[in-house]
Amino acid sequence: MKFNFRKLAILGLLQVMITFISACSFAEAETSPEASLYKRLGGYDAISAVVDDVVVQIAADKKLGRFWAHRGKDGITREKQLIVDFIVENSGGPLYYTGREMKILHEGMRIDNEDWDILIKALKNTLTKFNVPAKETQQVLEFFDSTKIDIIEKS
Ligand code: HEM
Repeated sequence: MKFNFRKLAILGLLQVMITFISACSFAEAETSPEASLYKRLGGYDAISAVVDDVVVQIAADKKLGRFWAHRGKDGITREKQLIVDFIVENSGGPLYYTGREMKILHEGMRIDNEDWDILIKALKNTLTKFNVPAKETQQVLEFFDSTKIDIIEKS
């Protein structure tokens, strides 16, 4: 019992530290309008924190969570890393995405519009929580929207 409380306290502290580090990453974002979206978002750590935060929400969702139920921990870590790489590359950052194409990889999952809306709601929550400015939020949402055509199979 005592051990569990201690473990919970450590987990709580870690969560606070992660949120603090993420907030710092965004606080250090380059604000010059010529900077890449990657830089304006705060770089690798900030993007990685966003992906982590979104995945926690969608994996816990009643409907969308079905895609991550019974998936191995390592598989999810690998998937998150590839999503980070994909976003970093597409926002002008220094990574090369080595994963599969959006259409090929999501084909057959029968992802529908309702699934999509849940993902976007989670993404908006995270961007608000991390104080991402309106312009960058809009650009991130537009980028996600550009992938939708390759991901949604059912309306
Ligand atoms: C509701 C929408 C979505 C659902 C349900 C979904 C679901 C999944 C699942 C279950 C996997 C694991 C596939 C596997 O291991 O074979 C996956 C992988 C991945 N997804 Fe999605 N996804 C969605 C939207 C997106 C979006 C919007 C992006 C990009 C912005 C994205 C990028 C990726 C990447 C990069 C991978 C890993 C690629 C690889 O393994 O080669 N997904 N997705």
